[in-house]
Amino acid sequence: TNSLPVYSQEEVTKHCAVEKGIWVTYKGSVYDVTDFVAIHPGGDKILLAAGKALEPFWALYAVHEQEHVLEILSKYKVGIL
Ligand code: HEM
Repeated sequence: TNSLPVYSQEEVTKHCAVEKGIWVTYKGSVYDVTDFVAIHPGGDKILLAAGKALEPFWALYAVHEQEHVLEILSKYKVGIL
């Protein structure tokens, strides 16, 4: 029942600026978080992960290890890596 498109890392990497959209990956899924950037509690730091994997950043900022953070992220899912 999951018909989301599959994206390459190359395609994700292109989405690294607000004009092109801000995409990130997490555990094999792709998220378009463009609309979340302005409301991120951690401010512009989110842009460090633009076009990349969240894992190395979230390993440093353990505040994300919470169910409610994953719920927010899930709303922005656009595809599979
Ligand atoms: C805080 C979501 C990416 C740094 C938060 C919080 C949420 C959130 C919901 C508040 C958590 C709480 O206090 O309960 C996200 C999402 C991200 C993302 C959905 C990606 C799509 C990043 C990245 C970094 C980062 C890549 C760093 C490079 C921080 C920091 C805070 C924070 C430092 C703490 C802010 C404070 O309380 O002063 N994030 N985050 N976030 N985030 Fe993120």
